[in-house]
Parts: sequence; C-alpha cells; structure tokens
Amino acid sequence: MPEAAHEKIINDITRRFAARTIKSAALNAEAVRYMPGGHTRDAVNYKPYAAFIDHGKGSRIYDHDGNEYIDFLGNYTSLIHGHCDPDILAAVRAQLEKGSSLCSPSALQIEHSKLLCGRTPFIEMVRYTNSGTEATMFAIRTARAVMQKDMIIKLEGAYHGTHDDAKVSMIPDFQPGELPTPHLEGSGIPQSTLQDVVIAPFNNLAAAELLMKRHRDKLAGIIVEPYLASMGTVVPEPGYLKGIRDLCDRYGILLIFDEVQSFRVSVGGMQVRENVRPDISAVGKLIGGGYPVGAFGARRDIMERFSFDMLDPRAITHSGTFNGNEITMAAGIASMKKFDQAAVDHINGLGTRMMDGFTGVFRGLGLKCQATGIGSQCNINYTDKKISNALDFVMALVPCLELQKLLHLELLNRGIFAACRNEFVISTPMTEKDVDTCVQKVKESFEFLMPYIREKTPHLL
Ligand SMILES: Cc1ncc(COP(=O)(O)O)c(C=O)c1O
Repeated sequence: MPEAAHEKIINDITRRFAARTIKSAALNAEAVRYMPGGHTRDAVNYKPYAAFIDHGKGSRIYDHDGNEYIDFLGNYTSLIHGHCDPDILAAVRAQLEKGSSLCSPSALQIEHSKLLCGRTPFIEMVRYTNSGTEATMFAIRTARAVMQKDMIIKLEGAYHGTHDDAKVSMIPDFQPGELPTPHLEGSGIPQSTLQDVVIAPFNNLAAAELLMKRHRDKLAGIIVEPYLASMGTVVPEPGYLKGIRDLCDRYGILLIFDEVQSFRVSVGGMQVRENVRPDISAVGKLIGGGYPVGAFGARRDIMERFSFDMLDPRAITHSGTFNGNEITMAAGIASMKKFDQAAVDHINGLGTRMMDGFTGVFRGLGLKCQATGIGSQCNINYTDKKISNALDFVMALVPCLELQKLLHLELLNRGIFAACRNEFVISTPMTEKDVDTCVQKVKESFEFLMPYIREKTPHLL
C-alpha cells in the first residue's frame, strides 16, 4: 500500500533528524541506562530522542554532531543574555578563584539584593533559593504564615514549579462546571493537597471572586502567574491583574505574583509594567545570570518574619545549602546590571517582530493559527479563535499534538532550537536577522508540513 502523504512527512522529518544526530542517538542509548528516559528533566525530553547539546555561545548552541542551532529557548527563559555572556563569564571566573559557596552572609548578596529590590517598589526585602520552585513554595508558605490560613487559589494552567501545591491543575478540567474541579498532576502528590488548593480559570475575575466569597475564612491568598508562560503564553486581558488586586483587597487575602518568567517583560517584571502591587513575589531565571536561582520577596513587615527568633511562633524558617551562593550571586549581579531599559526594549522589540512575522506566515499560508505572547516570548497556537485561558489553549492543541511535535523536530532539522511546546524566547545577543531567520524557517517548515496538515488537521486550513 502506498504511503499516505502524512506518513511520508513524519518519516522524512524523523529520518533527517536521525541522520544529523548520530552522536546524540548514541549518547541517548547510554543515558537511558542510568537516567529514566535518558534525562533528568521532563521539559527537555522529546521523541525519538533529544539532540544532546555540547556547548553554546551567545545566541547559538551546538550539538555533539556539530549542528548549529539558534537558541530560541534560552534554558526556558533563564539565559536572558544567551550563552557565555562575556560579562557574566568574567564575573563568574573571578569569583571561582575566591570560592563558590562560603557559608556566610556575603557582600555579593547585599549587592544582588539591592539591585533586585531596586527594580520594583513592591519588593523591599528578599530571600534567595536555588530554583523558582522553591521561590514559589516559600512565597506560598509566607502567605500562609502571615494569614494563619492554609488555603490558596491557583490559576488553572499556571506553572509554579514542581512542589505539591504547584502540581494542581496545570492541565485544565475539560468539562468544568461553575468552576474547574482541581486535580493532581502526576502520582506521589498527597491527596490532601486538594484540601488547600482551589482553582480559578485565568482571565476570569468572576470565578476568582466566587472562590474568595466561598472560602473567605480559609484563604491565605491567590498565586498568579501574570501570563500563562508555559500554557501557550496566554496574556492577561486589560484590567485582569488590577481586578485581582482589587478583589484581594476586598476579601482581605494576599496576592502572590509568580514572576519567575515574567520578570523579563520590563526592568521590574509585570508588576512594574502593569503597576499592580503584589504582596509577595517569586522571581528566578534571569536574576541568576544562567545559574541555579530563585528568590522571593515582599514588604519589609512581611519579610521580617524570617528574622524572628525560631521559638517565636510567628517565625518562618528558611534554609538551603546553596542559597545565595557566590557563583549565582556574581552571575546574577552581572546579568541584572546588563538588563537595563535598553536591553528590555531590544528584546521586546524583537519579540514583536517575531510575533508579527509568525502572523504574516499564517496569513500567507492560509493557516488558522496564531502567535500569542508578550515582551520577548511567544507561542504558536493552533487556532485563530481568541485564547483567554488554559482550556482554550489546550482544546485547540489536542487535535494538533502530533503537528506541534513535528514542527518542533522540523525546526531542529532547520537549525532552530525552540521549546517542544512551540514556544520561542528572545535573548539580548539576538538580532533582527536571527528573528527573520526564525520566521523564515517556521514558514518553510509549515510549507513542508502542508501535505500532513491537509490530511491530518484540515480544520487549520
Ligand atoms: C512561572 C514559573 N514559576 C516557577 C518556575 C519554576 O522554576 P524552576 O524551574 O527554577 O524551579 C518556572 C519554571 O519554568 C516558571 O516558569
């Protein structure tokens, strides 16, 4: 029986990927012997196997077979200045000679925290962690401690890392009633987590208010990812974030902003860009200059709880062997100093160029797709209808999951390294030419995929 057109496309993409990644295939065969799935992080895993990256420089990365890629992922937005930025490298090299983790409060931590607090009026004091996961975990703990209540509202589809509270309702409820029914994602998370986490859809103030009314006596706060960075880069509608702030004031609960990704949209993240005051913030990624980091911060009166005597029942304890370690601090200082208004304008301008470019591609090819995004990051979505929340995003994606994977693999074949979820992120060393190359490769990839689309996802035409 002759091969159907879509099968031919799938086989062709996979064959070309295999032909150019022979060393990655061998490394993968070894990796699966020691690490389940051959990796140690779900977000870097894809089929048939991942390209094993050997090194990076600026906006480029190179796999073990010597293939060059423009890196439109930047370690999921943390490499704001690309790979081996000379200023960050110099700061880290100098610090390496002095020690990596000196187990004391440090001058570098003072410098870092001054820079960080200087970026937003809403963070007066900070504590450091080693990841965004820990940062959001402690932000939630802080809210619970301050309010002496345990329940929090989380937004459906918002990603806050991998701790238990964060693993509620990333994937949306496909048949929500008045509100989505919360569910746990992955096994091993205590069922009891669901007693204290309730879920509202993004961009829905009425749902948030309903939960606040219903659980007023139990609620500590609401944790908000200002845009759904890991769920199609769904952006807030005008007035949504401000509306959440107002509701928090009305119902007397705390507002937590998770700005681990969104801190890049301005010099002080979405809170500064939208002028919405969170009570507690979690940040990460860019503030570490590419090294492991997280931080959470708030007003002085909230954060001072961390300096209370351990025997004081109001005290919040916080430790971590590598918190505020010298290498991360040195790299983060260099990273933040370079991430000034001009740098923000540069990457955001390129972000707009990329989204406009993608929109032009979809128009030109007659594809019912769209680019959603903000600042320097955007996502390709498989519908031309409005996407307001995680459910809209996932409903459009489900019939196109294979297409999403094929586009990702085909872009790798053409030298573009983006997220498997078809997300694209700009870093400061990138140029208009890099963005135009990406847009062109997306166009060529969709052109190549057209026979597949005609057979398997004709609703996109
Ligand atoms: C919004 C948001 N919060 C929290 C995290 C978790 O950060 P980390 O991966 O450093 O633990 C991420 C990671 O992508 C994120 O995007």
